[in-house]
Amino acid sequence: MNIAKSWIRDCRSLCVLTGAGVSAESGVPTFRGPDGFWKRRDPMSLATPEAFAADPEEVWEWYRWRREKIRGCEPNAGHLAIAAIERQKTDFLLITQNVDGLHRAAGSRRMVEIHGNIWVVRCTSCRREREDRSRYDVLPPRCGSCGGILRPGVVWFGEALPREAAGAAEEMLRRCEVLVVAGTSALVAPASGYAAVAKRRGARVIEVNPDETPVSELCDAVFRGRSAEVLPALFG
Ligand code: OAD
Repeated sequence: MNIAKSWIRDCRSLCVLTGAGVSAESGVPTFRGPDGFWKRRDPMSLATPEAFAADPEEVWEWYRWRREKIRGCEPNAGHLAIAAIERQKTDFLLITQNVDGLHRAAGSRRMVEIHGNIWVVRCTSCRREREDRSRYDVLPPRCGSCGGILRPGVVWFGEALPREAAGAAEEMLRRCEVLVVAGTSALVAPASGYAAVAKRRGARVIEVNPDETPVSELCDAVFRGRSAEVLPALFG
């Protein structure tokens, strides 16, 4: 732990990549764990543009259920540790695959949400996008401006990442000295390839995850623990 701590302390440019595991201890279910969403449901039936076009009400039922689950969740010690280390670094970027907004709630600012945000909605007709925390009695919700069907402001399988977020992430991967990868199964592209990109150009890569992942092998240090425990220790 001490060597990894010194890499983090001494580097000028630090990148942190997070996935659903970082929010697990806040009570947000992961996708692929034993209680994960994708154990019960096929992602293709809920998280694709085709599924939404076929049955927007059903897809929205699932998002409404997730929104209500997340509404009751607070950032945990892992989120707070990431927000605290950001304040100590001149060059920092948090890249998150999470859509729950808990990093922002914890105080993270220099961050990109590459899979969007579950509290954002976008009109499928006029494309207007805004934050909307309504509970929605009637599904699918409709656009206040044009009456079109609203969709969640998240990235579905088969869709491109938001261009600005993806660009900022790639730039950071090209210059960071240390990359900490926490709470992701590293199975979904393009984030699954980020560790290899950073490693190839000589960055130190550190993984925080209770389980082995496809990137574990290329890491310079691996901490097999829960992020709410390991991240405060690593960044402290
Ligand atoms: P996954 O659910 O695939 O993986 C969660 C990871 O977190 C696993 O590797 C767990 O071992 C780890 N984990 C569980 N509890 C943890 C804890 N307390 N501390 C640290 N790690 C823990 O989630 P993601 O990798 O984020 O995309 O999934 C990537 C994308 O797949 C998601 O953004 C979502 C999903 O389908 C879309 O919906 C487009």
